[in-house]
Amino acid sequence: DKLVPYGPANVMLLEDFNIPVMQKVAALEFAKNDIVVCSYPKSGTTWTQAIISMIMHAKDTEPIDVSQSKLDEWLYIEMNAPACKGKRPVEAARDAAPPRLLRTHLSWELLPQSVTTNSPRIVFVHRNLKDVIVSMYHMYCTFPNLASAHPANSAAEFAELFMQDKVHHAPYFHTFKSVWEHRNDPNVHHLSYESLREDPRSEIKRLADFLDKPLTSQQAEQIAHHTDFDNMRQNENLNSSAMTVTDKTTGETKFEFMRKGEVRGWRKHLSEEYGQKIDDWIQQEARNYGLDASLFR
Ligand code: A3P
Repeated sequence: DKLVPYGPANVMLLEDFNIPVMQKVAALEFAKNDIVVCSYPKSGTTWTQAIISMIMHAKDTEPIDVSQSKLDEWLYIEMNAPACKGKRPVEAARDAAPPRLLRTHLSWELLPQSVTTNSPRIVFVHRNLKDVIVSMYHMYCTFPNLASAHPANSAAEFAELFMQDKVHHAPYFHTFKSVWEHRNDPNVHHLSYESLREDPRSEIKRLADFLDKPLTSQQAEQIAHHTDFDNMRQNENLNSSAMTVTDKTTGETKFEFMRKGEVRGWRKHLSEEYGQKIDDWIQQEARNYGLDASLFR
């Protein structure tokens, strides 16, 4: 009873992702004041969540209270997260009272219909595609169930699988375009990982304005500071590395979620030549999907 709506291998790795679950996802009633972070995996989703949590907890002109913001307030529509408290993710989301903090990697057409009728606030984040591939490769290396389904001994081998759509939420360009097409909707806010890296204060202020929680410059500065890579890494409330995975043979493995957080760090794992091969693929796919290839570089 697995649902494979497109692509050869896209969702089979998600244990929760089957037709009965997707029917419940379809029936989920978004509220106008819910906040939904939409992204392709490894694009800066968790960073965006940490920033939004701080914005939502900010009080008028008071300094930001870091301890108020926790990633475990967030519900993952299609996968387990601490906030699910043993329930299926979609059921936890259904039972929680709005305004809810939700995150998803689903493409737009797989979201509940209420995404259109009730217009929740959608925050869409995207990232340089070669950095996404390298980040995802490291995640696949950590999680034994992912690694055994798609064995890859190097970032280049993983990139091959990526370009063949043999990873979660593939095809990448389909998932991207489905949300990108809505970027100018009044209830949708778009940001890129790179812009957040380059000018966090301005991006945080822009995001806060969209969420109707305007910040003082000092508050934006504080949020930028607390969600800066090194500080977020040290904050247990905001670091998903607390997640552990159990390897049947070796026992418990720690997932280094906050790995590098670099812009164009892919160069350390893929040769220039291989980068060019991915760029050629990007060029071709972007053309097929009617998208500007520079969005992905
Ligand atoms: P790397 O593996 O390249 O380091 P997602 O949350 O969508 O799964 O994205 C995970 C990526 O975002 C990882 O990238 C992670 O290190 C990076 N990241 C998380 N928090 C960050 C922060 N505060 N600043 C910069 N990058 C961050």
